[in-house]
Amino acid sequence: MEIGATGLDEGRILIAGCGYVGAELARRLVGDGVEVTGLGRRAEAPLEAIDWIRGDLADRDSLTELATRGFDAAVFAASPSSPDETGYRRIFTEGLGNLIDALAAASPAPKRLLFTASTAVYGQTDGEWVDEDSPTKPPRYNGRILLQAERLLEAAPFTTSSLRLGGIYGPGRTRLIDQVRRGDASLDPGPPQFTNRIHRDDAAGALRHLLGVESPASVYLGVDSDPAARNEVTRFLAERLGVPCPAVADAPAPRRAGSKRCRNTRLLRSGYHFAYPSFREGYGEMIERL
Ligand SMILES: NC(=O)c1ccc[n+]([C@@H]2O[C@H](COP(=O)([O-])OP(=O)(O)OC[C@H]3O[C@@H](n4cnc5c(N)ncnc54)[C@H](OP(=O)(O)O)[C@@H]3O)[C@@H](O)[C@H]2O)c1
Repeated sequence: MEIGATGLDEGRILIAGCGYVGAELARRLVGDGVEVTGLGRRAEAPLEAIDWIRGDLADRDSLTELATRGFDAAVFAASPSSPDETGYRRIFTEGLGNLIDALAAASPAPKRLLFTASTAVYGQTDGEWVDEDSPTKPPRYNGRILLQAERLLEAAPFTTSSLRLGGIYGPGRTRLIDQVRRGDASLDPGPPQFTNRIHRDDAAGALRHLLGVESPASVYLGVDSDPAARNEVTRFLAERLGVPCPAVADAPAPRRAGSKRCRNTRLLRSGYHFAYPSFREGYGEMIERL
């Protein structure tokens, strides 16, 4: 595996936050022959084949070991421990800031840092198409804090890219399937409510791909090619599960994610090929395996 402009045949990569996506990325990189080090608060690595640093991104003193290791690239894929504003700040501004400082102090410093942001940075609500250049006016603290994190990235002393991920689904993340199967889902009344998602394997696949892109952009949308109306997804799941189509609700379900259609053209043009270009392939496979 060659890490972008570094021209290395083999890289040493740090993955800070080895959860659903981070551990899958680690598995793929190990398969490429890359030396992977994970960082997280748990005592042991989530997979045997990687080196492990026990550390808390929110506690800068626990990251001193990073300065003594040389990484060619780093990936931040940690998520908030609590979904409130304090949890978001702790990981995305304090945690990311601590990681940038620790990596900047390392010798050599990494050439590249990838960050997992979210489509919550957008505030559009009327089904507008958005891309990386669209206005970002998030209505809630989560999107605002992620934009602050992206500003920290811009100021970092190495190349950085932010991958704004849609809702991540895949093996084990079956909330929507379970709702439809249990008969707990309903259809939205009124205009289509658009949703954006990405399969775990494509989230990890896109990060791996971006590690190898020669001159990456500072921001990419990490969503599949089909920003579908929520009702379309629900109807598809009901049909594939062989359960009755849910009824239309009396009132629209409260949605914090707005309604927008995120375009993945930049990621596609950079050469990434989706394993699951839409929810049909992704959820279809998950349902077959139930
Ligand atoms: N889930 C979604 O639908 C979604 C949508 C858009 C964007 N994202 C973003 O995509 C990224 C990956 O998401 P995911 O679903 O893979 O997350 P996840 O499964 O919740 O994993 C996050 C990892 O971060 C680690 N972590 C949390 N706090 C930490 C800390 N203070 N120090 C070190 N490690 C810490 C956790 O490990 P320990 O607890 O063991 O430390 C965990 O392994 C995250 O940045 C998330 O915010 C997710």
